[in-house]
Amino acid sequence: MKVDGKHYRSIWFDHDSNVVKIIDQRWLPHRFTIVELNTRKSFCHAIRDMWVRGAPLIGATAAYGVAAEMQNDAGDQALDDVCRDLQQTRPTAVNLAWALNHMRDLLKPLPDHQRAGAAMKRANEICDEDVECNRQIGLNGLQIIRQIAAGKSRNEPVNILTHCNAGWLATVDWGTATSPIYHATEAGIPVHVWVDETRPRNQGAQLTAWEMDSHGISHQLIVDNAGGHLMQHGQVDMVIVGTDRTSSNGDVCNKIGTYLKALAAKDNDIPFYVALPSPTIDWQVKDGIAGIPIEERDGKEVTSIWGKLEDGSLANVQICPDGTPAGNPAFDVTPSRLVTGLITERGISPASTEGLAAMFPEFSSP
Ligand code: MRU
Repeated sequence: MKVDGKHYRSIWFDHDSNVVKIIDQRWLPHRFTIVELNTRKSFCHAIRDMWVRGAPLIGATAAYGVAAEMQNDAGDQALDDVCRDLQQTRPTAVNLAWALNHMRDLLKPLPDHQRAGAAMKRANEICDEDVECNRQIGLNGLQIIRQIAAGKSRNEPVNILTHCNAGWLATVDWGTATSPIYHATEAGIPVHVWVDETRPRNQGAQLTAWEMDSHGISHQLIVDNAGGHLMQHGQVDMVIVGTDRTSSNGDVCNKIGTYLKALAAKDNDIPFYVALPSPTIDWQVKDGIAGIPIEERDGKEVTSIWGKLEDGSLANVQICPDGTPAGNPAFDVTPSRLVTGLITERGISPASTEGLAAMFPEFSSP
């Protein structure tokens, strides 16, 4: 998508400098910073400390991390070590394991001298495939938005609530939850986006609000607790969120707070959709609540908040008494019964074992 009129992806291989570059998301929306990743340590650090984040982008970064390692050392030991280190960075988004398994399966049978080239080629392809998946998700989700718009009077916007950032910054491009929104805007359908701030790290406030603003999409930032009230008062037509891992029965793991939005949506008969590319489906996990590992992050993310001071400097501010203990589960699981549909690159699937198996028969086991 565009930043100041120039097209960017969230990660790319720069052929001139022969290095992988990312937008360092820690500083958005206040600073737009591009950094280079080249060592195993830098790739691990970028994922763990959330310079890059969002399930599809974590997967793409891991693929490039393996490729960069192969340029330094293409031996079996280095391949095993880099996959192990990258796998340990964050536990919840399954796209990480998906990308690493993919790279390992491709590279293991190859002689060492072919690995660097093959790895970089595949990492580039994984990025291109992610962009295409998300474009298709956008076109499929657009049909739902179009239907809702058809039931409204002309120029009345479709009101969409989203949580966290499942935007182009969370993927290689387009985003998952935002792709239908971008496509609707391109198709001339008026939309208004309610942007959940998404404490503790405020991906909604910092990233989704920035994306919406950059693309001229009508939006309002709301506190995480406002969604239920807006739904009760007819101000939300649909919810679209992303996911970090969806189990084969259609349970959806996403940023903490998603479950509460799904409950409120159900209580108010508001459709709750989840947009996801197929690498986000974990076919091994049959029950998302029991089987998906939930990342527990540092309590400092809860006891403090980061932002811009009046003098323009950036700072972290403590918001509670000294020494307050804090818990920080980063994700929750929304049971499939609360999900209206899964917007995938192949179409809209019911959130169920049967629905996903019918949409992706080659992956599901009988
Ligand atoms: O902790 P984050 O910022 O990596 O969490 C991101 C999310 O929860 C997104 O909603 C999810 O990855 C979907 S991304 C298209």
